[in-house]
Amino acid sequence: MDTRGFQSVLRTIESKLSIQCENYKQDYLERRIQSRMRISKVESYTDYNSLLLSSITEQEAFRNALTINVTKFWRDPEVFDLIKRDIIPEIRRRKKKIRIWSAGCATGEEPYTLALMVYEARILYPDVEVTIFASDIDREAIKKAETGIYLKKALENLSESQVRRHFDEQQDGTFLVKPHLRDFIKFSWHDLMSGKAVTNYLDIILCRNVTIYFTEKQKDELARIFAPALAEGGYYVMGKTEYMGRDVEQLYEPFNPIQKVYRKKGV
Ligand SMILES: C[S@@+](CC[C@H](N)C(=O)[O-])C[C@H]1O[C@@H](n2cnc3c(N)ncnc32)[C@H](O)[C@@H]1O
Repeated sequence: MDTRGFQSVLRTIESKLSIQCENYKQDYLERRIQSRMRISKVESYTDYNSLLLSSITEQEAFRNALTINVTKFWRDPEVFDLIKRDIIPEIRRRKKKIRIWSAGCATGEEPYTLALMVYEARILYPDVEVTIFASDIDREAIKKAETGIYLKKALENLSESQVRRHFDEQQDGTFLVKPHLRDFIKFSWHDLMSGKAVTNYLDIILCRNVTIYFTEKQKDELARIFAPALAEGGYYVMGKTEYMGRDVEQLYEPFNPIQKVYRKKGV
């Protein structure tokens, strides 16, 4: 490998895109850079570096490639069942306002699933006010999430009646989420590597399938940032393939280890 060329690409990513490369696994960065090189028909790291330095379009394309935003409605339905069946009723016994953060929400399917679930279960907790914060580093993704327009295929995990109740079919055949779901959610741009949470006094943080590309150090750092952002007894929901680092496990206790749900430890 041309180490000098590769390092120069990393320096450009840091200076032009303000992305801290040391927070990402090296082999992941390598694969993303090589994939962009293939697409741009560039053979060497040095040439790719020149392209990245000169082209804002390529800078944005690289940012999108780095933050793959694959997601879907009801991704891992057992987790949503657990939130509905055990977590929300438990929080509700203690308070009337529930604050949830979907951190790394991509194009919005996760926060809209939460909103749909809360709306449909409102009969179980009619007196509870729920606010969902949803954020992502990818501006395109968050714009799409805010717009709330989806192709029919994206709604395949919803029943026909759920689609009718919660979406308006547009003339072009796409589906627009209805205001009664949209109103639960506050969308914002946010970098999880910024050292800050989007807000505090949270009852549930879902940060799923986001840290798979982060280094161990950055993953642990995130768990340290989430703990004070959670209210007492708050829940941290990780992705199915993610795990709590040894250095931070004293901050949380397992709530449902199979579903990767942890609870902030009391003081
Ligand atoms: C695979 S998607 C996961 C979406 C959703 N949480 C789910 O599980 O279906 C990962 C998302 O994390 C976002 N992401 C990656 N790095 C991030 C960072 N530093 N700050 C905020 N979001 C980030 C990406 O832009 C992408 O939208």
